[in-house]
Amino acid sequence: MRLTTALIAAASLAAHSASAGPVKRDTEYDYVVVGGGTAGLAIAARLSEDPKVQVAVIEPGTYYQISNMIVGEVPAGCSLFAGSDPADTNSAVDWDIVTTPQEGAMNRSLHIARGKCLGGSSARHYMVYQRGDKGCYQQWADDVGDQSYTWDNLLPYFQKSVNFTAPRAPPRAANATADYNPAAFTNGSGPLRVTYTNYASPISSWVQKGLTEIGILPTQDFNSGSLLGSGYAASTIDPKTMKRESSQTSYYEPAKNRLNFRTFILSKASKVVFDANKKATGVQLTDGQFIKANKEVILSAGVFQSPQLLMLSGIGPKATLDKYNITVIADRPGVGQNLTDHAFFAPSYRVKVETFTRLASDLIYIATQYLFSFIGSQTGPLTNPVADFLAFERLPGGLVSPDTQKLLDEIPTTWPHIEYTAASGHIGNFSNLRKDQPKDGYQYGGIMVALTAAFSRGTVGIKSASIDDLPVVDPKYLTHPGDVEVAVAAFKRARKVYASEAMADVLADPNEYYPGVGVQTDEQITEAIRKSIGPLGGHGSCTCRMGRVDDPNAVVDNKARVIGVTGLRVVDASSFAILPPGHPQATVYALAEKIADEIKKGN
Ligand SMILES: Cc1cc2nc3c(=O)[nH]c(=O)nc-3n(C[C@H](O)[C@H](O)[C@H](O)COP(=O)(O)OP(=O)(O)OC[C@H]3O[C@@H](n4cnc5c(N)ncnc54)[C@H](O)[C@@H]3O)c2cc1C
Ligand SMILES: *[C@@H]1O[C@H](CO)[C@@H](O)[C@H](O)[C@H]1NC(C)=O
Ligand SMILES: *[C@@H]1O[C@H](CO)[C@@H](O)[C@H](O)[C@H]1NC(C)=O
Ligand SMILES: *[C@@H]1O[C@H](CO)[C@@H](O)[C@H](O)[C@H]1NC(C)=O
Ligand SMILES: *[C@@H]1O[C@H](CO)[C@@H](O)[C@H](O)[C@H]1NC(C)=O
Ligand SMILES: *[C@@H]1O[C@H](CO)[C@@H](O)[C@H](O)[C@H]1NC(C)=O
Ligand SMILES: *[C@@H]1O[C@H](CO)[C@@H](O)[C@H](O)[C@H]1NC(C)=O
Ligand SMILES: *[C@@H]1O[C@H](CO)[C@@H](O)[C@H](O)[C@H]1NC(C)=O
Repeated sequence: MRLTTALIAAASLAAHSASAGPVKRDTEYDYVVVGGGTAGLAIAARLSEDPKVQVAVIEPGTYYQISNMIVGEVPAGCSLFAGSDPADTNSAVDWDIVTTPQEGAMNRSLHIARGKCLGGSSARHYMVYQRGDKGCYQQWADDVGDQSYTWDNLLPYFQKSVNFTAPRAPPRAANATADYNPAAFTNGSGPLRVTYTNYASPISSWVQKGLTEIGILPTQDFNSGSLLGSGYAASTIDPKTMKRESSQTSYYEPAKNRLNFRTFILSKASKVVFDANKKATGVQLTDGQFIKANKEVILSAGVFQSPQLLMLSGIGPKATLDKYNITVIADRPGVGQNLTDHAFFAPSYRVKVETFTRLASDLIYIATQYLFSFIGSQTGPLTNPVADFLAFERLPGGLVSPDTQKLLDEIPTTWPHIEYTAASGHIGNFSNLRKDQPKDGYQYGGIMVALTAAFSRGTVGIKSASIDDLPVVDPKYLTHPGDVEVAVAAFKRARKVYASEAMADVLADPNEYYPGVGVQTDEQITEAIRKSIGPLGGHGSCTCRMGRVDDPNAVVDNKARVIGVTGLRVVDASSFAILPPGHPQATVYALAEKIADEIKKGN
């Protein structure tokens, strides 16, 4: 049904572009949302609930059900086209963003996947649905000077976005029971379907035992404000079909036929236009058209392109704008600064249970799984988004230098320093998960280690005054010495998981496969990490950071309004005040819900 709709949309677009000249559009709305991604479609759908306001969305991509066919919808497909090798991409649904050479990562330039489609990165991500801890939102509230950002006050917005369905066992294996907190999901009336996959990765039940042996114990869930412990992750998956749930399938589909809601796909914004009073009046598109916004322009172009669009529109560090002859509307030095991300790395091992390694190398198996298990009964490994088991911890004391320990101790006590994820496959340097699976007949398993309280901060810049050039992305992974120490200590902890007595029975070879038993000293471990570290999908945030109005480095205020102009907000991961530990989508949706509510209240 949805695919049919999508095919029709594509066919009609093809018909339009075949005729001479651009598609003719209505050109005046109350709210113009730039970017039909995770936050963009959520806020647009909410604003259009009021039939009196006209809402438009500008999105350069199209339906991922077409541009990333099958791969985009089947959960296991998330591991394709998302590697750090610039060649591991599908340009029809990805922006092909590649970082500058990363000094902390052996000068490698890394591809960071970003969705270019309705749904944005919610159509590309690994589907983990998880909220931050209470301490991180308290920090957000304190940084911004607005206690409406505490856990308790955000909870209604987390809940408003979700329709939760409890895990089903069977079909989940009896030894993979997913615990959860029903109270985290009251009412179930939100648009975003969240559930647990019907197939648990067999390696996860073993990793759970290994984690327990090193002192990381099972916890109830990751959606009630505390994260420390291990457990199965909830996922944005439709419980009926086991297909990916994105902002397009959840928020957009039920809203898109409203008469006051228009979406322009295959349309790219080049800048925001202001009047003499520095009020945003609308959005210029690359095809020359101008879309007028009578009330507001809302930028939801994501962590890299929202700051790029601000700079191209004259809002950003003055020196940068001057360099490219962009007229300064507001000198905001924080635009594009403070890029915060979760870099990760992962040792791997030969194991005795089936993992993604089999899927990656056995096409006939994939085809039978797809037709008979996935389509037939919504079961089997294709229903699994590869990352289904998580654990969070504070790094135990005594593993890093006193200086670094002091920095770690300053982080709110509920905020974990490290996230471990059971990896159903060999990750290596994450260049191409499918291609990199060893073809030696063994199955591989691993454990991904992410720095969830990293100190390194990166930047997003521009290389011209044109949106035709991609932004310049420099995450500066592992450039803070504290991060290197934490990474080495966490690497050793991760190794202990697979070296545990509990995991001995599942190892097909007691020796580590990657980076290998030869890597022992801190120097060797540091080098192995620098050779393999990469972005955990793309948790980048804070490049249009929310802060106090009198903070010269803040970009938006507590209502996500761009400081120094009027009629313009930034609502997406770029306007986070802090990056919560773990996976950001739950917070992106909650922020979109909260700001939609503020706008409806007239704030
Ligand atoms: C591979 C991968 C795995 C991930 N795994 C997880 C996970 O398991 N769980 C989790 O919680 N998070 C995960 N994330 C992170 C999560 O997906 C993002 O944090 C979130 O989707 C960001 O939402 P956003 O609204 O900020 O940006 P996006 O969803 O990326 O939306 C930005 C939109 O703006 C559009 N756009 C860009 N430029 C323009 C322009 N000039 N004009 C108009 N529109 C424009 C884009 O096409 C896109 O649709 C992952 C991300 C990736 C890439
Ligand atoms: C990375 O590049 C910098 C700058 O060009 C250089 O100084 C450094 O030696 C390089 N590092 C490695 C590991 O090649
Ligand atoms: C549940 O929904 C009803 C309206 O449908 C609302 O009045 C109530 O406050 C909601 N309860 C919670 C706990 O969110
Ligand atoms: C919640 O999800 C279930 C399962 O997909 C669906 O049957 C139900 O209609 C949804 N509820 C709402 C309010 O959307
Ligand atoms: C749990 O069950 C699965 C499926 O039967 C099996 O492959 C896996 O090895 C089991 N895990 C443990 C820890 O026994
Ligand atoms: C900026 O303008 C100056 C003077 O008009 C010109 O010399 C320079 O080349 C321009 N720079 C760019 C990056 O366009
Ligand atoms: C980066 O963020 C911190 C708060 O997290 C803030 O104090 C600092 O001013 C920011 N720096 C820039 C350049 O934006
Ligand atoms: C990553 O590893 C693969 C081998 O698995 C290798 O071919 C490739 O060059 C490496 N890429 C980077 C950027 O380190």
